[in-house]
Amino acid sequence: MSRRLMTSPLPGRFGHKHLLGIEGLSPDEITLLLNTADACVEQNRRVDKKQSHLRGLTQINLFFEDSTRTRTSFELAGKRLGADVINMSVQHSSIKKGETLLDTAMTLNAMSPDVLVVRHPNSGAVQLLAQKVTGAVINAGDGSHEHPTQALLDALTIRRRKGRLQGLLVAICGDFLHSRVARSNIYLLNAMGARVRLIAPPTLLPREAERLGVEVFHDMRRGLAGCDIVMMLRLQQERMQGAFLPSTREYFHFYGLDAEKLALAHPEAFIMHPGPMNRGVEIDSEVADDIHRSLIAEQVEMGVAVRMACLEILTGRLRNDTGAR
Ligand code: CP
Repeated sequence: MSRRLMTSPLPGRFGHKHLLGIEGLSPDEITLLLNTADACVEQNRRVDKKQSHLRGLTQINLFFEDSTRTRTSFELAGKRLGADVINMSVQHSSIKKGETLLDTAMTLNAMSPDVLVVRHPNSGAVQLLAQKVTGAVINAGDGSHEHPTQALLDALTIRRRKGRLQGLLVAICGDFLHSRVARSNIYLLNAMGARVRLIAPPTLLPREAERLGVEVFHDMRRGLAGCDIVMMLRLQQERMQGAFLPSTREYFHFYGLDAEKLALAHPEAFIMHPGPMNRGVEIDSEVADDIHRSLIAEQVEMGVAVRMACLEILTGRLRNDTGAR
């Protein structure tokens, strides 16, 4: 993504008007987002979770694709910070009558939202929309391009468990070809000094992946050796046209995470998955539900905190207790 399109300096240490991707963010900006989110975790564990940092501001969630985690956590995040949050139902909007993405954006813009949270099936659609509106835009996932808040919540989860990102060995396994989550995670982990291994069958791993500064493995057993974090990706069969795999049974045999393959990673390695999971396809229930090794529920918890941090920072209503680590 072009840095030029992302930047519109704001006062403070975050130099972007929108959050369209992780690519182009500096380590200091990522650290600011993570530290702000860390402060939000404690707020979310209190009985009274409500604050008024965003009082008077309007947030519109505009999801052109299905979502459970991202949409719900953005809604909770806005409400916990005191914003007025509107979930626009695409199914019941004038998009169904043929209104274009840009006309929809201009229509919503005329209602003066301060933040638009947008998920769209086409890579680049959120960036296009951001050029047409006056408020801040947050990318909640665009095609196979980026899902920046997912990478931030993954990083926060890892940092809280391991105390750092620098120097960790992180395996990202599975359907890289269709994964915006993997792309955002690679940008973030590289920026923060972690080492990334990509593990996937050749049909799900384009050759340009190596240019992202990762080590590529087609043999999962070799790729997992010594890893601190094993991040599984969902097999996105809804985005596959044609034969990428012989069968899901064969895929699980070679690329599904089970206890036997996990034993090759570092003995204290943690398991992650952005959700939704295909149990028995990319991950076995025994490891997904292992309360000592699996961080999947914790990722969801961190998602609310990260989205609160993004809202605070992009609206310039930053809390004070966010000193750099
Ligand atoms: N991880 C993620 O984006 O999940 P949802 O599709 O449920 O939002």
